[in-house]
Amino acid sequence: MVIADPGQELVRIVARSGDDPSPADAAAALLLRRRFGVSLPPPFVRLAEGGAPPPVRAAEPIDVPALGAVRWRSTSRGYRGMVPDEVLASETPSPPLGWWRDQVTGAARPGAGHAVMVAGGRGSVVALCWLGPTQPWGHEVRRPTETSDDVDLGEVARFGVDPLAWGHGIGRALLAAAEARLVALGFGHAVLWVMEANVAAQAFWEACGWRPDGGRQTVHAGRGVQVCEVRYRRALGPGRSSFWSGR
Ligand SMILES: CC(C)(COP(=O)(O)OP(=O)(O)OC[C@H]1O[C@@H](n2cnc3c(N)ncnc32)[C@H](O)[C@@H]1OP(=O)(O)O)[C@@H](O)C(=O)NCCC(=O)NCCS
Repeated sequence: MVIADPGQELVRIVARSGDDPSPADAAAALLLRRRFGVSLPPPFVRLAEGGAPPPVRAAEPIDVPALGAVRWRSTSRGYRGMVPDEVLASETPSPPLGWWRDQVTGAARPGAGHAVMVAGGRGSVVALCWLGPTQPWGHEVRRPTETSDDVDLGEVARFGVDPLAWGHGIGRALLAAAEARLVALGFGHAVLWVMEANVAAQAFWEACGWRPDGGRQTVHAGRGVQVCEVRYRRALGPGRSSFWSGR
């Protein structure tokens, strides 16, 4: 079979496989890894039984299709009941693979202090985090204005763990590494936005030391649906003002 786009092919296999792929789909995913070197997401990679969380590392271009797949699997399960099923049922990863590629390679905003991190040994991705300076998002409907105190403010802008890996400490380990990366990038504080209805994620952020700061915004979730998000914040340590003056 001729495979024109291995990334899209992997996403198609993931979308139809659920947590229990057929032997043919499992073989097809492994073939993509062998032939094209792409990393695989769950359910094609599994956690070590009772083992330590997988390593956290910077994402590489070979991780891009798995990144899109893990993001899709994580939100389509994690946002159930909060976002209409028809929005979650889309088999097109959002953001699309090209967006992730640009973030991972730095093509999107060269030198702008962003990072994409993943949990997973080389060749596998089970969780992802995208971080950087606070985002002037294109999709918000209403958003509060940041204050001048927020000059060293970073953002954990996308964060998700594959559902097959929930509850194993992987989110906590990835977040600790992401916070360290934000500090290394010069940020003294960080924020993130979480859906008001996403009480499980809010419990996670609070267990990891983040607290709501009163910020609220309304964003487009797709297909004309709007959802309310609340902002969480955490002090990370001393910021470096040279980060801003050096750009
Ligand atoms: C929220 C999410 C990132 C948590 O990841 P995880 O790897 O399962 O979390 P961990 O196992 O590292 O849990 C760390 C702590 O968070 C808390 N926590 C995690 N999931 C929780 C849940 N569903 N309900 C209540 N508390 C939870 C626990 O107290 C846990 O502490 P413990 O070690 O004392 O039990 C994951 O469920 C996810 O990706 N959800 C879907 C996408 C999403 O909502 N992303 C966040 C968008 S803002």
